[in-house]
Amino acid sequence: MALREIVYVPDEVLRRKARPVTSFGGELQTLIDDMVETMRNAPGVGLAAPQVGVSSRVIVVEFGDEEVPPKLYVVVNPEIQKKSDETLIGTEACLSIPGLAGDVERHLAVTVTGQSRRGQPVKIKASGWLARIFQHEIDHLNGILFTDRAERVWKLEEADPEEVLLD
Ligand code: NI
Repeated sequence: MALREIVYVPDEVLRRKARPVTSFGGELQTLIDDMVETMRNAPGVGLAAPQVGVSSRVIVVEFGDEEVPPKLYVVVNPEIQKKSDETLIGTEACLSIPGLAGDVERHLAVTVTGQSRRGQPVKIKASGWLARIFQHEIDHLNGILFTDRAERVWKLEEADPEEVLLD
């Protein structure tokens, strides 16, 4: 495993629609291992492949809180299959946008489908912060950044670190 360099705005790879993954060989496995290491090192709660300069539809998410121990999710070709009508505003930040935070409205719950790192179908039901992270990461695969959706953007140093997601 190796750390990869995180790509920052205004790098155009962050604005591209990432390519679907069709091959589950060694190159993908290495990419995923490196993304997990890079996310943990940052540290962040999620990372999308374009954030390490690779325009492929791969995300990794690792999140836990007082109630739920941290769990690692790796999803290849993720799609939001279902989303709640109910939404919630929460504070987000992004490893690719240093120094900024913003309030973003997201669906309270989503069902994400896609494939595992070995190409097996996966389905994840997420709510709350976990659902927010998945929506943020899947946005990355479509060239969308949280600042596009935020109602308000401000300096990260002014935000309560306990209330901000970095992904
Ligand atoms: Ni991000």
